[in-house]
Amino acid sequence: MRPAAPSTDPAQAHRAEMEAAFGGNASTYDQALPFFATIADRLADAIGDRLTGPPGVLVDVAAGRGALARAMSARYPRALTVASDLSLGMVRAAAGNAAAHVHHVQADAELLPLRSGLADAVGCSTSLRLFVSPAAAVRQLRRVTRPGGVLGVSELGPSDAKWGFFGDMLRRELRRAGVRPTHGAARPQALPQLVAAGGFTQCVSFEETFTFEFVDESHWWEWVQSQSQGHLVRGLGDGAAPLREAALAVVRDFRPMDLRQRVRFLTALAGRQ
Ligand SMILES: C[S@@+](CC[C@H](N)C(=O)[O-])C[C@H]1O[C@@H](n2cnc3c(N)ncnc32)[C@H](O)[C@@H]1O
Repeated sequence: MRPAAPSTDPAQAHRAEMEAAFGGNASTYDQALPFFATIADRLADAIGDRLTGPPGVLVDVAAGRGALARAMSARYPRALTVASDLSLGMVRAAAGNAAAHVHHVQADAELLPLRSGLADAVGCSTSLRLFVSPAAAVRQLRRVTRPGGVLGVSELGPSDAKWGFFGDMLRRELRRAGVRPTHGAARPQALPQLVAAGGFTQCVSFEETFTFEFVDESHWWEWVQSQSQGHLVRGLGDGAAPLREAALAVVRDFRPMDLRQRVRFLTALAGRQ
């Protein structure tokens, strides 16, 4: 039987790519190092700072394993928290690891199966840049948030220059192998303009730098494998082992073996529609 040709429908192609990049390693995602969980925890604080009363419903969109949903649920255990993600693999992994009050649904951020005005707060951590249409997703985030409800978004900025070598190495090897990484082509977003156009107001935006420490080069490699870059490395087939050896030889000399990651946060309130 011939393998199915890749879909030409952008939504379907995106879904297949996300399933491969994230669903495929959902069981190890963010387990080697609490990278996304640390960022989500900070975002949960920023959302909490803008809530004016105890929330009843909280929504984490493109939740992955539900890092933000768990962080919000821990702060507001009486609220009903919904975690949604496009990848079924991620939803299954998240549900298997569920906090008592978190409900998991598979859904496209651009077409949320949630009632309008349901949420007191809605968050999207380190995912907006991946969507086919971030603007359409923001309109959905606005639709499901009650007027005056809170939006919280985080996006990855640059990490310190010394780690740039690996992206360069990986891109070179992917090119050589003829692999085109669609999800790696994430577009940086002008967040304040994007959320204002989607119907949010009173935007507050700030940046912070987080430092993550690797125990040794094997720990770093385990971390690479556990996130979406791992999917790209595996796509190299036989080329993955030499890439690993070359990368470990570089990282072995890093002292300290730390990663400084800049992150942009934004909170806003849902305007009247
Ligand atoms: C970088 S991960 C972040 C996951 C999670 N927010 C976290 O911080 O751990 C990006 C997530 O976005 C999800 N995703 C990508 N496109 C999506 C879409 N259109 N709708 C919903 N989820 C999507 C992926 O499946 C993946 O789980």
